[in-house]
Amino acid sequence: MNQLKHVIESQQFSLELLYSLFKEADEIRKNLKEHHSDLKGKILASLFYEPSTRTRLSFESAMMKLGGNVLSTENAKEFSSAIKGESLQDSIRVISKYADCIVMRHFEEGAARIASEVSNIPIINAGDGKGQHPTQALLDLYTIYREFGRIEGLKIAMVGDLSSGRTVRSLCYLLGKCKNIEIIFVSPENLKMKEDIKEYLDRHNISFREEQDLNSILTSVDVIYMTRIQKERISIEDYEKARGKFVINSENVNLISKKSRILHPLPHVEEIDLPIHLENNDDRVSYFRQSENGLYIRMVLLKHLLLDN
Ligand code: CP
Repeated sequence: MNQLKHVIESQQFSLELLYSLFKEADEIRKNLKEHHSDLKGKILASLFYEPSTRTRLSFESAMMKLGGNVLSTENAKEFSSAIKGESLQDSIRVISKYADCIVMRHFEEGAARIASEVSNIPIINAGDGKGQHPTQALLDLYTIYREFGRIEGLKIAMVGDLSSGRTVRSLCYLLGKCKNIEIIFVSPENLKMKEDIKEYLDRHNISFREEQDLNSILTSVDVIYMTRIQKERISIEDYEKARGKFVINSENVNLISKKSRILHPLPHVEEIDLPIHLENNDDRVSYFRQSENGLYIRMVLLKHLLLDN
């Protein structure tokens, strides 16, 4: 298996490596107690310049469940020495002497790569501006693999803000490695998927199209990957134009087959408006299982990054 030095972008994962990571995640989930000291004595630094619930806490939980320790700055933009003008490179040079691995979320695209260029310990990209969120894509694909027992041959709709959403970009890069995938992009006119991703999908012979009518595709897709309109990354005019256009609610949820699955990287706001009993009990609602899957995928990644290097 190819060795992971850093996790910066989805393109670095081969299909063989993906399936192997998924199998390892299944094994850790099944035999969790046997792994309680796998990372004993290792330290993860979590350096978050943007807000997070799932990514930061699941990485920290993954590290602790494997017996490791965590150093954490949850608001590094304000409470690290970045506020005094310290460069990202200098912060990384310093932190890499205190920890064995850094998981970092940054507001600028390309920040994780810059960090990896000066770090002598593994860097994990936990989201870089409008760039990528590769560990989210891994857990998304792992969720699809678990829910369907396969990835190949599925029809996947990506819905919402496809222009600023880094999770859909990273997921497209992973889907580009798979066979027989069909993608349907459903987004407001002003927040369409960018050309670089469409060109990548073309190069990898992945069939895709754009659609404006969400209800018309709900009956025929296997996965509905909903995303939030990223208010914090776009103008207020673009936000007002886009909000509320594509929503899954109690009216259109019945168009979705019982075998299909609704995914969302979370947090969700008004683009999913389902009653509590459906969110709690309906098998189609997969996004809470999806966020749990992140724990196991991140355990596997941490083990590779900390023990293979
Ligand atoms: N999906 C995701 O990245 O969630 P958080 O922003 O809560 O980490």
